[in-house]
Amino acid sequence: MDWEKKLGELESQVSELLAQAQKAEDFFRIKQQFLGKQGEIAGLLRGIREISPELRPIFGQRINQAKQLLEDRIAEASRQAESRQARGGGETQDLTLPGVWNPPGRIHPISQALDEICEILEDLGFQIADGPEIETDFYNFEALNIPKGHPAREMQDSFYIDDEIVLRTQTSPVQIRVMEKQKPPLRIYAPGRVYRRDMDVSHTPMFHQVEGLWVDGGITFSDLKGVLMLFAERLFGEGTPVRFRPSFFPFTEPSAEVDIGCRICRGEGCRVCGNSGWLEILGAGMVHPGLFRRVEYDPAEYTGFAFGLGVERIAMLKFGINDIRLFFENDLHFLKQF
Ligand code: PHE
Repeated sequence: MDWEKKLGELESQVSELLAQAQKAEDFFRIKQQFLGKQGEIAGLLRGIREISPELRPIFGQRINQAKQLLEDRIAEASRQAESRQARGGGETQDLTLPGVWNPPGRIHPISQALDEICEILEDLGFQIADGPEIETDFYNFEALNIPKGHPAREMQDSFYIDDEIVLRTQTSPVQIRVMEKQKPPLRIYAPGRVYRRDMDVSHTPMFHQVEGLWVDGGITFSDLKGVLMLFAERLFGEGTPVRFRPSFFPFTEPSAEVDIGCRICRGEGCRVCGNSGWLEILGAGMVHPGLFRRVEYDPAEYTGFAFGLGVERIAMLKFGINDIRLFFENDLHFLKQF
């Protein structure tokens, strides 16, 4: 018989039983089972007769050691159980201690605004599309009718990686990337980060835009107006006044900037809207035929509109925030309000 193995087994058996024992009877029973006259240890000691006489003292000593160990363990476990009982209910935890408070997290106001914008566009049947943030000069500018040296490049002070690679300054390059791969009808939106060298109360070097693009046979400026009016009403509440102002973008013709009635002064004129009663929310227009030709769509067959909005701007209007930089300072006093 392998004595060491047998002793080891007895020890782990005792540990297991002790872990479950609670009442005095339990401990008594364990003691009987292992240390009693008819118990396991006694049985081992009886078996010592089979061992050669010269080895007997060694085994005797070893078994007695194990017996002492088990005795100590059982006594200690039963003492602990007793004091648990005395403290009440067998509970090992002090229920009077104050708990650990994990404050619940929140969705960042920019993400909240972005989620809402995306949901509205999904409801209007737009499908999400994606493009790279590190973009080529071709997609970010050239394909959008903004050749090198064009003054429109100055409106979008850019971060260049090298002569041909740029951090995208707008989400409009996604228009080209999608049209290159898909044929009309097409109704997509592209949310994402864009980058410009700018920093003041209304500009940060990184901000978020959402691009919209709808191309099909017979799409008109009225469709653009209808979609954007529905969009503004869902985002800012029913009856929100919407105004289209003529504007210029190299990749749309005609182009417009879209304002909503100032929500602070309800159109009376205040500091936020610069006394005009209106707040700009996005740029839009009918897709320039030059873009279609570049992606091999026939401009005689298809028309479309595009729009691009700044998510920070929308969030500032929605939540009444006057400094865009607050969004990115990660000050909990600010973020906790949303
Ligand atoms: N890309 C333009 C900007 O960033 C916005 C825009 C998008 C205008 C689509 C017209 C059509 O200013």
